[in-house]
Amino acid sequence: MHEGPFSGKHILITGGAGFIGSNLAIRLISEGAIVSIVDSMIPEFGGNLKNLEPIRDQCELHVADIRDEHSINYHIAGKDFIFNLAGQTSHMDSMRNPFADLDINCRAQLSLLEACRRSNPKATVLFASTRQMYGKPDFLPVPETHPIRPVDVNGINKMAGEAYHTLYQAVYGIPTCCIRLTNTIGPRMRIRDTRQTFLGIWIRRLLEGDPFEVWGGDQIRDFTYVDDAVNAMMLAASNPVSYGQVFNLGGPPPIRLRDLAELLVETNGAGSYKIIEFPADRKPIDIGDYQADDTKIRNALSWSHKTTLREALRQTLDYYRERLSFYK
Ligand SMILES: NC(=O)c1ccc[n+]([C@@H]2O[C@H](COP(=O)([O-])OP(=O)(O)OC[C@H]3O[C@@H](n4cnc5c(N)ncnc54)[C@H](O)[C@@H]3O)[C@@H](O)[C@H]2O)c1
Repeated sequence: MHEGPFSGKHILITGGAGFIGSNLAIRLISEGAIVSIVDSMIPEFGGNLKNLEPIRDQCELHVADIRDEHSINYHIAGKDFIFNLAGQTSHMDSMRNPFADLDINCRAQLSLLEACRRSNPKATVLFASTRQMYGKPDFLPVPETHPIRPVDVNGINKMAGEAYHTLYQAVYGIPTCCIRLTNTIGPRMRIRDTRQTFLGIWIRRLLEGDPFEVWGGDQIRDFTYVDDAVNAMMLAASNPVSYGQVFNLGGPPPIRLRDLAELLVETNGAGSYKIIEFPADRKPIDIGDYQADDTKIRNALSWSHKTTLREALRQTLDYYRERLSFYK
């Protein structure tokens, strides 16, 4: 018998067939929640049925687009919690096709909140925000109070999406919370290409036996293991202390990319990489070094990361070693 805050609760996960959403769905179902997923399953985006394999008979998957207001109205009805994770995640795609990014990461977010205001204002809404909105940090680690200066269209639209969530809590009392994620890694992450994170393509190349490319190599980045991110989202959604708040999320100490490449090869037990110059077309939207200051969430919700970077890489490599063909 489950007795946690999600047991028997009706939960909607937008983007639930993607990387973080599917890990969240699996965990919520294990805690006795009744989970519905809305995912557009557009091929170039992150949805993958393989992600939902362990829970295919235990959740409802609705292939629907959050840009469709009628559909969102229908799917939010009767939900106790909405984990709002659907998003266009590629920074380069947001520059090539800014209006698609605007519609998904900005307009559709407002539609979802309007639907909540009109017909389900008691549902708790957890929004997956991003550290991208800080742009190139002035200093490290970066607290929530650091200036917001997005360097790409995606960062601007996610910033607006986040601000709508905070506004709808302040004005209409809808219980919302936003978590600014840094690089999240783990089983079910996208490894097909660099649309989610550069680490995905590193893992793919490594498991295919090819050298992977490290661009630059001196950049500092931090990583959150997906189970730790899922824990943070569940803690935030279930504790009224977080309503109206924005939290950074980090993890183990940050690492230079050239050291991360070494650690990945070492964890895999084989493989190689080459360091090349950072591509000129990506330079203008690169954020350089980043490390989250996540003291706020650690203090407010007693969240802490449980997984070391080495263990996170090991779990991820183990997952893909068995299932590479489903993710290429
Ligand atoms: N993974 C990270 O490192 C990271 C970092 C910062 C923020 N985030 C945010 O977390 C959320 C989840 O990211 P993820 O890494 O799981 O990415 P993902 O691409 O694996 O998952 C996003 C899901 O949203 C779905 N989707 C996209 N547009 C949709 C639409 N219009 N309607 C319905 N579904 C749609 C996709 O099909 C996909 O399954 C995103 O909002 C992303 O911006 C992720």
